[in-house]
Formats: sequence, structure tokens, C-alpha cells
Amino acid sequence: MTARSQPLCPELETALYRLYRDFLDRAERKRRWSLRDDIPWGRCNRSLDPAVADVVESFLAVELYLPDYVQSAMAVWRPSRAFSWFYANWGYEESKHSLALGDWLLRAKMRTEEQMADLERRVLRHDWNMPHDDPVAMLAYAMVQELATGLNYRNLQRCAGGDPALAKLLGLLGVDEQTHHSFFLRAVRLFLEHDRPGTLRQVHRVLHNFAMPAIYELADGPRRVQAIKALGVFDDRLFFTGVYLPVLHALGVSRPELRRAG
Ligand SMILES: [Fe+2]
Ligand SMILES: [Fe+2]
Repeated sequence: MTARSQPLCPELETALYRLYRDFLDRAERKRRWSLRDDIPWGRCNRSLDPAVADVVESFLAVELYLPDYVQSAMAVWRPSRAFSWFYANWGYEESKHSLALGDWLLRAKMRTEEQMADLERRVLRHDWNMPHDDPVAMLAYAMVQELATGLNYRNLQRCAGGDPALAKLLGLLGVDEQTHHSFFLRAVRLFLEHDRPGTLRQVHRVLHNFAMPAIYELADGPRRVQAIKALGVFDDRLFFTGVYLPVLHALGVSRPELRRAG
């Protein structure tokens, strides 16, 4: 269980609150999308490669742990208005992701209602627990995980060429995840300004122990991870080139500096 964050110093809280307000303004102006109207549901392809549907189902499973993600983040960041309000909005956006993925599996006839109910039951059997015991590590984890998830969706989108509905929804989800990543990246930058060695220690821990959440907690997790690799959607090499190096670059941290911090 991650300890509740101490109240942040007023300067940091003010800067984070500004970041959140900016995030919300842009989301309202540019990024809102409708589950019903913005996805061409009539163009689902029922003969798409079933391997793609299996990976969609794995990503749906990850998104179904939403109650655990929100509950944990809210508990840790309760003393910060910036983060509490951010997570309220974040939860709304993430809730649409599982709906979109689940609706596609049903409409493309890749899964039945019974199979979907069974997946949900299996997911709910486990709680997701935060992989780090420190609030700043959790932020760094979110920064890394959102970028990795966005990359996963973009790479899966390349396999969805024959299905305009899936391609469109993965594009929408990818943009959301990229924007979530940018928020967390900016937040981590503020923590770096505030306490560089302490923040870098947490960034090091996260980058060197990263795994996509929740997939491994499913009974058939290893098979699902294998299927994601087989489609070229995500693996260790893609993590290194598409997440690890870009995160360090965006934070202005060299690999020797990170190593020293660890
Ligand atoms: Fe998501
Ligand atoms: Fe996200």
C-alpha cells in the first residue's frame, strides 16, 4: 500500500494546479469525443484476424482495473487538489476506453455477451495493487505507463487497417493516452525542479522495473503478453526505444545521471 502523500509545498501545488487547469481546458476544447457518434460502428470487420481481437481483449482487461487505479491514486493524492481533480477527469476519460474496446469486441462479433461477462468476472477476482510504495514513484510510473499504452494502441492500430471502426477508436484512445502522458511528464518535471536527486531515484526505480499493469495478474497473462509480442505491438526493444529513451530525453536526464541516482 502506498502511503498518502504529505501536503505539497504551496509553490508546487500551485504549479500543479495550473497544469491541471490547462489540461482540462484543452481537453474540453479539443479532445472530447463521443462513444456513440465518433466511431464508425457500422464498419466493423467481422473477418479481421482473431489474433488482433485477442490483443484488444487483453487491453480491455487492463482498462477494466480502472476502479483500482482511481481508488489508489485518489487515496495517495487526497491532500492535493490539483491531483484529486485531475484524477476525477482522468477516470472519466479512461472509463470510455474500456467501453470502446468492449463495444468493438461485441459489435465485430469477436466475443459474445457471455464471454465478456466471464472476462469481467476473471478481472474482478483480483485487485490491482500499486507497484510502488512512494507517491512520486507512482507519478513516474503513470508517466511511463501512459506513454507505453499510447504506443501499444498506435502499434495495434497498424494491424487494424481492415476495420475502420477499430482503427478510429484506437486512434482516439492513443491521443488520450499521449495527453495523459504529457500531464504526468510535466508533473514529474515540476518534482524534479523541487527535488532532483529524490525524484530521479524514483524515476530510476520505475524505468528499471517496468511491466504493463494487470496483464500478468490474469491467469493467462503470459500467453497474452506473448500474443502482444507476436503482433509486434510491444516488447522490451519497443519499450527501450519508444518509452525509456524518449522519457529520459523529455526530462532532460542523461543515462549516466540516471544510473548515479539509482
Ligand atoms: Fe486508457
Ligand atoms: Fe491513460
